[in-house]
Amino acid sequence: MKEKLEALREKALGELATLETPKELEEFRVRLLGKKGEITELLRGMGALPAEERPKMGQLINQLRSELETALSEREQNITALLKEKRLKEETLDVTLPGTKTKEGGLHPLNIVLNDLIDIFQSMGFDVVDGPEVETEHYCFEALNVPKDHPARDMQDTFYLAENLLLRTQTSAAQARTMEQRKPPIRIICPGRVFRADEVDATHSPVFHQVEGLVVDKGITLCDLKGVLEQFAHEIYGPETEVKFRPSFFPFTEPSVEVDVTCSECGGKGCRVCKGTGWIEILGAGMVHPRVLAGCGIDPEEYTGFAFGIGLDRLTTTRYKISDIRLLFENDQRFLEQF
Ligand code: DAH
Repeated sequence: MKEKLEALREKALGELATLETPKELEEFRVRLLGKKGEITELLRGMGALPAEERPKMGQLINQLRSELETALSEREQNITALLKEKRLKEETLDVTLPGTKTKEGGLHPLNIVLNDLIDIFQSMGFDVVDGPEVETEHYCFEALNVPKDHPARDMQDTFYLAENLLLRTQTSAAQARTMEQRKPPIRIICPGRVFRADEVDATHSPVFHQVEGLVVDKGITLCDLKGVLEQFAHEIYGPETEVKFRPSFFPFTEPSVEVDVTCSECGGKGCRVCKGTGWIEILGAGMVHPRVLAGCGIDPEEYTGFAFGIGLDRLTTTRYKISDIRLLFENDQRFLEQF
């Protein structure tokens, strides 16, 4: 019996040293020290021993039990320490490693140019106003002296939502709204989206952007118009850029002009971008037609004014040498990340 105990002790301690997980330890504990474990069985088997050997054997078995319990709890502590050490090693942080960069959002090129443009006009005393994209025929055409049979009013050019209700084809619609709300002196710009039933190609889009400008006061002349727009073009394209005023026609201005600047791509020599002319058209403008002023309750005998409509998309594509207007609307990150 004594040898049997000794052998069990050797075997158990040997096995214990090889155990590596809390689960293995628990299985070991149940198998040896549990209610039906080997040690318990030994104690039970004592009944078969002669009476005088029982106390001695009982003592030995209990000794072995407590020895194993101690060894088990030591092993348990060891394993916990080892596991902790292993985990700490695995989770080590190298604080000298470079961090992962978070991507920063940026402004859309149209917004970059628009912000510059707003800065330029605000520094000249202009307010920024907003106007609705869904407009009435009245503000988009009637109040601007665009006659009923004008082709711009055709369904082929204008998106109608209902009779008299349409998507504005020009930010000029903001002119009459402003003149009804404000008294001269008026100096405003109105940036925004405009809509025309155009086919999409490299230079056309059914949605594009304009910035309307309007100045009304006593004694405003074509000279003021030239001064303001020249200043604007020089600030956007640089002081060496030449600005040309060409006679033109718009129903809401008289006289009317279109403004060209020397092509930023070729510097005026003529290239693909300017179609060989050396010039790029950036806006339409003119002296506000007396009929438009009068229609908004402003006496054209007392007041005069000028207005202009800048094509924001054209300004942006020429400034950044963007060859296709569609890039401005597709929101391709590979394109947008360049700004
Ligand atoms: N609304 C015109 C267009 O879409 C641009 C324009 C021309 C605006 C002359 C004006 C202006 O305010 O005076 O082509």
